[in-house]
Amino acid sequence: MVSILPLTLSQATVSRREKRLLGPIDLTLEAGGITIVLGPNGAGKSTLLRLMHGLEKPSSGKLRYAAPRALAYSQQAFVFQTPVMLRRSVLGNLSYPLTTHKMPRAEAEKQSLTWLKRLGLGSHTSQRASQLSGGERQKLALARALIRQPELLFLDEPCANLDGAATRDIERLIIEAGASGTRIIMATHDLGQARRLADDVLFVHHGLIHEQSEAATFFDNPKTTEARSFLKGDLI
Ligand SMILES: Nc1ncnc2c1ncn2[C@@H]1O[C@H](COP(=O)(O)OP(=O)(O)OP(=O)(O)O)[C@@H](O)[C@H]1O
Ligand SMILES: [Mg+2]
Repeated sequence: MVSILPLTLSQATVSRREKRLLGPIDLTLEAGGITIVLGPNGAGKSTLLRLMHGLEKPSSGKLRYAAPRALAYSQQAFVFQTPVMLRRSVLGNLSYPLTTHKMPRAEAEKQSLTWLKRLGLGSHTSQRASQLSGGERQKLALARALIRQPELLFLDEPCANLDGAATRDIERLIIEAGASGTRIIMATHDLGQARRLADDVLFVHHGLIHEQSEAATFFDNPKTTEARSFLKGDLI
């Protein structure tokens, strides 16, 4: 299969009216691994993820996937902090998107059931998705992204507001997806989670990437003063 990676950003910026929110960014994302995006509130993490996913057009500069756009979009998914549920059953939230991608309904439901059991949601299949708890919804949203086995997956603080058990379940799914070849880019505020998951770290501050390092280097020996302060918990 044609790979959509590497994804390359060249001098890419995002501006609203005259205000620059992000960039210029130069970045190459190779295949494989989990990248954690760190930085204070308002740094531009979500904007960077949205730009890379194509939800946000560069105001200047370029973004390039290694494959044509239509293919690139079909091979990636995005999970938001507050998941959007379809007005369907829990099962339908997984199976319906598959059927719209031409999978026969019986097969779509079979695959969806397997995922729901894997997530511990096997007893909720016919319940309306809107009735799930926050943690259950987030698991369902992640499953909906993963069931199509995207090559590239963006996660924007998927565990904010979740308790330890739900967070652990979601981290397990993320690690399994990463191990099976999905490239993961995830923004989080949870430094413990960043340490548990990261292969490498992008540190964003004031709309710029201040540091891109392997996880061990970033956590043990950050290069920039801002990253050092951030890791110490200082306000920056
Ligand atoms: N639609 C918009 N119009 C104007 N400014 C915006 C818009 N969306 C975001 N911004 C601004 O862009 C900057 C970056 O926002 P972004 O949401 O990317 O930050 P973030 O790092 O994800 O923050 P958080 O940690 O709070 O999620 C912020 O200053 C924000 O106020
Ligand atoms: Mg954000």
